[in-house]
Amino acid sequence: MRPIRIALTKGRLEKRTVALFEAIGFGCAQLHNKGRRLILPMDNYEVVLAKAPDVLTYVVHGACDIGIVGKDTIVEHGGSFYEMLDLGFGKCRFALAGPKNTDFYHGHHQRVIASKYPNVAKAFFEQKGMDVKIIKIDGSVELAPLLGFAHGIIDIVETGSTLKENGLAVIEEITPISARVIVNRASMKLRREEIDRLLSDVELALQV
Ligand code: PRP
Repeated sequence: MRPIRIALTKGRLEKRTVALFEAIGFGCAQLHNKGRRLILPMDNYEVVLAKAPDVLTYVVHGACDIGIVGKDTIVEHGGSFYEMLDLGFGKCRFALAGPKNTDFYHGHHQRVIASKYPNVAKAFFEQKGMDVKIIKIDGSVELAPLLGFAHGIIDIVETGSTLKENGLAVIEEITPISARVIVNRASMKLRREEIDRLLSDVELALQV
């Protein structure tokens, strides 16, 4: 049988997750010296580094058994898997933001909203009964209102400095976000013991 595969979101969550693995006592030398390699052995596990939406894809389809991914990606893309643990780091929130000192809700014109999270944006405005035009942007979404391309953005806000440094401000907070552990449905049945052991190791390490 192949080792249990853990898909780890590259970037923001990577460092904290590796620190968590180290706290459990896993040998993380390969994760520290990864170079350009994407599959890295860690004791009896294999760690796969991937972009957040791909972590979901690999776990949904069983290419990886376990995924570490932000709640933002889970809410935006959904999918069939078990969400097992909140790791309590990678904390930020979804927010509606726009140019400072402007009244976003004033007037009846159709708003244009730029977002990396079009489904989250759609649900947010649907629930308000507002008809908005949502445009998908892949990164640095704060640029859109600065270029006069959008009235506002729906994005994740962590420290708030990207907004502040670009003359933008939060108009409304939406939901809190943090890193989660997800598990493939079939793996949960077929490799339950190994997965349970790993999850309780993670839980114990989180309590310290
Ligand atoms: C995220 C988000 C904001 C920024 C918020 O982008 O889209 O731009 O972080 O963080 P802050 O509140 O601490 O300033 P990310 O750095 O993931 O990169 P991207 O915009 O290129 O996707």
